[in-house]
Amino acid sequence: MPTDSTRRILVTSALPYANGPIHLGHLVEYIQTDIWCRFQRIRGHECHYVCADDAHGTPIMLRAQSEGITPEQLIERIGRQHRADFADFLVAFDNYHTTHSPENQHYSELIYQRLKDHGHIARRIIKQAFDPIQQIFLPDRFIKGQCPRCGADDQYGDSCEVCGSTYSTTELINPLSAISGVPPIERESEHLFFRLGQFETLLKGWTGAGHLQPEVRNKLQEWFDVGLQDWDISRDPPYFGFRIPDEQDKYFYVWLDAPIGYMASFQHLCDRTRLRFDEFWGPGSDTELYHFIGKDILYFHALFWPAVLEGAGFRKPSAVYAHGFLTVNGQKMSKSRGTFITARTYLDHLDPEYLRYYFAAKLNNRVEDLDINMYDFVQRVNADLVGKVVNIASRCAGFIHKRFDGVLSPRVPEPPLYQTFVDAGSAIAECYEQREYSRGMREIMALADTANQFIADHKPWEIAKREGQSDLLWDVCSLGLNLFRVLSTYLAPVLPATAAKVEAFLNCELTTPGAWQRIERPLTDHRIQPFKHLMRRMDTAQVEAMIESSKQPATESAANTPSIEPMAETIGIDEFAKVDLRIARVAGAEQVAGADKLLKLTLDLGGETRTVFAGIKSAYAPDALIGRYTVMVANLAPRKMRFGVSEGMVLAAGPGGRDLWLLSADDGVQPGMRVK
Ligand code: 2FM
Ligand code: ZN
Repeated sequence: MPTDSTRRILVTSALPYANGPIHLGHLVEYIQTDIWCRFQRIRGHECHYVCADDAHGTPIMLRAQSEGITPEQLIERIGRQHRADFADFLVAFDNYHTTHSPENQHYSELIYQRLKDHGHIARRIIKQAFDPIQQIFLPDRFIKGQCPRCGADDQYGDSCEVCGSTYSTTELINPLSAISGVPPIERESEHLFFRLGQFETLLKGWTGAGHLQPEVRNKLQEWFDVGLQDWDISRDPPYFGFRIPDEQDKYFYVWLDAPIGYMASFQHLCDRTRLRFDEFWGPGSDTELYHFIGKDILYFHALFWPAVLEGAGFRKPSAVYAHGFLTVNGQKMSKSRGTFITARTYLDHLDPEYLRYYFAAKLNNRVEDLDINMYDFVQRVNADLVGKVVNIASRCAGFIHKRFDGVLSPRVPEPPLYQTFVDAGSAIAECYEQREYSRGMREIMALADTANQFIADHKPWEIAKREGQSDLLWDVCSLGLNLFRVLSTYLAPVLPATAAKVEAFLNCELTTPGAWQRIERPLTDHRIQPFKHLMRRMDTAQVEAMIESSKQPATESAANTPSIEPMAETIGIDEFAKVDLRIARVAGAEQVAGADKLLKLTLDLGGETRTVFAGIKSAYAPDALIGRYTVMVANLAPRKMRFGVSEGMVLAAGPGGRDLWLLSADDGVQPGMRVK
């Protein structure tokens, strides 16, 4: 892969279905991909980022029906909402299209024809579940019944949400159509199949040749061991999709034309620019092609897709990058807990760059789930972006305007310090390139600490009071702002809106092609603009309001609601006043060998430190606790436990297990402060 010369790269994210809103779970992927593309461009490479709405299939058809509109009207409306959500999250596609487009029809038909001509399509009659009332074949997800393994009611036709087992629809006990509520019948129909097994050798070679993450390769080996089955690519009417040419009333299955939507969106872009389709999709092309996807759709992208491309005479992807799912506060997103947060609800309360930064601070290149812990989110964004990065500029900019007419000094006072910042750029670039964003963010924040230390050591506010030290003041503040410029460039892929404000403030380019390399030369003798506010502190109340507006009434039955323990005996205010509640900062948290429930916490109470064993292991990983504020009972007599002496107690609420919350204090508190 060329690194020095300009690379030519085409990037895609998975196409979201056009039947529901974008939510924070989706955004992990779009933000991850957008950061990568912006990074490539800032490095001076040619990088095109395309996507589209995935507009076909039974769920979309049925949703439109239930709303009393046509599928076209539905996908048009949802498409508009998706585009607005992405734009407001600063996800900058070069083209956003739809799979219900002439370009997609063209490539779907072309690819199918070529597969057919080369003998990769088979046909045979199969039996499927059919709804006799609605007169429609039922996808697995539209059949519900009792789980054949654990007996749980109301489970989907392919898997059980209670015991997690997967099975075939025919095993489901007492199956019912989720559309009409009647038992499905079996009906025969002729289907067309893509003969995946013909590509086994190719796929074994391709999947083992560095195009996939190591853990994905292992998963694929399991699939190879089970054997590659023919893939059913046709559907019977009624269906919303493209008709299959030369067939009586058959449609392409949505998953056949969905990835072809990547090509179609790019073709749509080519038609409006000077880009040439074949240079990116033609066989043997020397450009790069990357697909960013979620782990749930690996089978489609790591097996079907390369095989289809090969069979139809197109190039295969340079790599497929899979990520994990999003959890919120350690759990699956939930409408009743208010953690199923749509992009729009988030935007109604919070700045998109907070989330972009938080995701970047947590993303790596493995297929791991990513957790957004709401308290950690607030604390991390405020501490890193506002407390460390923006702080550098706000401490230096005023003097440049008041004392030096808005012009930076002609000198760099500590060239080695500036050079350290420039040199760090290679390691940070490698982190972006490898999608190790969390490591990259740590490196950038370590530099921000160094810059703040430099300012704290020189104390420009004190130099400013001394006679005859004007040049020193000028140099210190100018270097501070130069370091800030380097940091802003490194953060620009993650924080494009802030980068644009910094560009205006420092009067220089941070986001244009090649900006990364231009930081080698510091800004000297250079006019800047007055400092304007760059980023507001995040407020816990905003997060709470967002969760509140995301809450929908629980649908769980009363039997699932945790029971409330009876109230304890009443106590008087005098007794209560004896309890000394203090704010404590979690300075350390570690596992306790041999303990099932306990974590060992080191709590900072301002003047003193306490060791407390807390039974919160089921709900918190030690790392998620460090830096968090909590409330503790500070005057509880020390208790000797099996693992050591516990010098107090932290307060937590909840029914137990993962649902356990530390009482986390708001911003603005100090360790040791008494809670009354
Ligand atoms: O799983 C999904 O949400 C699909 N709509 C993703 C399609 S990605 C690509 F293949 F089109
Ligand atoms: Zn089950």
